[in-house]
Amino acid sequence: MSQSFGVIGHPIAHSLSPVLFRRAFLELGIDAEMERYDIPPEKLKSFIERVREEKFRGLSVTIPLKDDVMQYLDEIDPVAAEIGAVNTVVNDDGTLKGFNTDWIGATKAVEALTSFKGKTVVILGAGGAAAALVYAARKAGGAVIILNRTIEKAREMADHFHCGYESLDNLMKYPADILINTTSVGMSPNVDETLVPLEYFHSGMTVFDVVYTPLETRLVREANAADCVIVAGYKMLLFQAEKQFELWFGKQAPLKQMEESLLKALG
Ligand code: ATR
Repeated sequence: MSQSFGVIGHPIAHSLSPVLFRRAFLELGIDAEMERYDIPPEKLKSFIERVREEKFRGLSVTIPLKDDVMQYLDEIDPVAAEIGAVNTVVNDDGTLKGFNTDWIGATKAVEALTSFKGKTVVILGAGGAAAALVYAARKAGGAVIILNRTIEKAREMADHFHCGYESLDNLMKYPADILINTTSVGMSPNVDETLVPLEYFHSGMTVFDVVYTPLETRLVREANAADCVIVAGYKMLLFQAEKQFELWFGKQAPLKQMEESLLKALG
């Protein structure tokens, strides 16, 4: 029988998870399907019941459900609990288990080019995406400072993860070895926006923008011109999916082919 997977969020039409996994299923001859499901938060409880009844094998969970979904699962991985977000559900013979693979994807994306260890890591934003990044950087030995427009949110996150925080207005006072934008600033259609003045960049700084539509954001373009090392934003999506695949199937994902399909979809 074909195995069912879903990617859930609200909205969900633009999710690229099906692109990644359909290619992986095809490549490895796995009889499975992944569909998108647009689930507003108030419908999440009944959807999870459906997941149990129809024996979905797994879910990929995206905004705004990563936090809400945790209450309906049977087990939460301790790291996902610490981050406060589940992006992966595994149906293990009727037991629904929640994991977070975003931080693993982020770590792999950054550490392919540089190491967090001993570096000053400046994280822009204090929302859902920031939590996985802060966890990843701290776990790998980075000294993290969270800069957010709303300082109260930065303070809450910094208290939780035991790191520094400041208002985004003071960015220039915090030179980074590694700069990570976790906000949606610069995302299509607002491609002319950036939070980082040109004077902030220096040669050799690593810059990672989690925004990958467009593939080259203004932040990345300007950092590149200033001779920074660029971590491509789509890599986090790719590597978190690689880990999801491993959790669902217990084997290595066909990464090259998944990347090829992803880049094609991203144009
Ligand atoms: P996500 O789950 O994608 O991280 P979120 O939880 O809504 O989304 O968080 C969005 C983050 O982007 C927040 O840190 C937000 O700052 P505020 O806490 O001040 O709202 C930040 N953000 C969004 N638009 C921004 C903008 N125009 N300027 C600065 N920060 C912005």
